[in-house]
Amino acid sequence: MKRIAIFASGTGTNAKKIIEHFKGHELIEVALIVSNKKEAKVLDIARENNIPHLVINKTELNDSNYILEKFSMFGIDFIVLAGFLLLIPKYLVSNFPNRIINIHPALLPKFGGKGMFGMHVHQAVKESGEKETGITIHFVNEKYDEGGIIFQASVPVLPEYSPDDIAKQVQKLEHLHFAKTIESLIEKS
Ligand code: GRF
Repeated sequence: MKRIAIFASGTGTNAKKIIEHFKGHELIEVALIVSNKKEAKVLDIARENNIPHLVINKTELNDSNYILEKFSMFGIDFIVLAGFLLLIPKYLVSNFPNRIINIHPALLPKFGGKGMFGMHVHQAVKESGEKETGITIHFVNEKYDEGGIIFQASVPVLPEYSPDDIAKQVQKLEHLHFAKTIESLIEKS
């Protein structure tokens, strides 16, 4: 089995979709949920699905011995970031080369970088007058949103759309494509 750790700081709707997608999968398993917020809804999803979880603070995340020991205990092969807001430390990038995957709610390289998360992204898209937006699934390196692109999908931004409407359209794309993209990437690896 290839074992995934999902990192998430928030609601975890993408984490939930990924968990559902891989239930009973013959090759891929969600083995661990990691969050930096002890109140994050994603932890309820972990509990409901009997998936082990780990709450870590920034210091623990940056402690390579602590995290790598946990990951070896859980036999983690891939890391999936689904709304994780802390910067992934260098030691993780070098220990998981091309095995850390993030989803960004816009068409990178546009609307990426520090501070570009959640509604900030959709507000910026609205203000810029872009005719389309979308999702980018990409590998993670040491810089926010700059790793190699694996998959993109787009959706029109109609003039009457509010940032909230844009967010809803983008979320549909995320739920449709994220788990499938992870699956095909891991199957090819
Ligand atoms: C998603 O929009 C994703 O693109 C971004 O964080 C958000 C997570 O949403 N990286 P959810 O917690 O999965 O609903």
